[in-house]
Amino acid sequence: MVRGVDLQLRGFHNVCQHRGACLAEPGLTRSPRLVCPYHGWTYDLTGRLCSTPIASGPPAGHPGVWSLEPAAVAEMAGFVFVCSGEPWGTVEEAFEGLAEELARFPLRRLRLGRRVEHQARANWKLLAENFLESHHFPPVHPELERITPTDRAGTLPPRGAWFGGTMEIRQPFETVAVDGSLGGRPLLGFPTRIVHDYLIFPSCMLSVQPDYLLVYRLWPEAANLTRITSEIWFAPSSSADPSFDPTPVFAFWDRVNAQDRAICERQQQGLASPGFRGGCYATVEESSHRFAAMVARSYLGQRPW
Ligand code: FES
Ligand SMILES: [Fe+2]
Repeated sequence: MVRGVDLQLRGFHNVCQHRGACLAEPGLTRSPRLVCPYHGWTYDLTGRLCSTPIASGPPAGHPGVWSLEPAAVAEMAGFVFVCSGEPWGTVEEAFEGLAEELARFPLRRLRLGRRVEHQARANWKLLAENFLESHHFPPVHPELERITPTDRAGTLPPRGAWFGGTMEIRQPFETVAVDGSLGGRPLLGFPTRIVHDYLIFPSCMLSVQPDYLLVYRLWPEAANLTRITSEIWFAPSSSADPSFDPTPVFAFWDRVNAQDRAICERQQQGLASPGFRGGCYATVEESSHRFAAMVARSYLGQRPW
């Protein structure tokens, strides 16, 4: 994805149209052009081929056919969405009602506290389904169940290609952290004892806590391997406060996320057993079922919701 001098965000498949080398490395950079590391074909930020070394110039006469292949991009609530195939519609259509829902939180202004990557030896869908239900809390995450009990979980009515849910923070806790307290960390917005969770189909998960935002993204690497990017974002004033201490939040989620990876890896192993007959969805697993139906429709090339 690039943002040109016209400030327009554009997305392209990361492949040079000469001999097919990947153009850009992962990560952020500033550059007025995209230069292929193989033979030096150079594209401007609108994706147009603007120069080539003499030796590897393309056949003349068809300017434009050597442009980068575009991918649809859109922005919402400070997030960028990219669709490498045929989009299901605009983000407003696909995620109907989500922008209004997220507008309650100052997401665009938050400061990144930490970004870590993990791998789970499990299919990405198991990790997504794990995010969509909380009745695994008592056996898998007793420390989370103590603060946000599963019997006080709520689900937002289904709308578009996203899921929303709430968890209530039990008295006397103030937030979800090792000590259950805010420890002087500023609130993101208004005082609240409600955690808001969202899964933006297919693979982005958000959890808005009183004093921080969790963002998880799932990157399928193989049928049984997923790379997970986990970020924790804090209120803008946190970066200026020398006494600001994020460690009770980091420590809590390091533990809980490791528990989720471990249980999903265990499920992945079990699913490979010839003794597993296909399973079932319990009533409280309505969201997991809706998710599975959305995946199935996507695989059929249909609009997922
Ligand atoms: S593959 Fe990119 S310049 Fe040759
Ligand atoms: Fe979990």
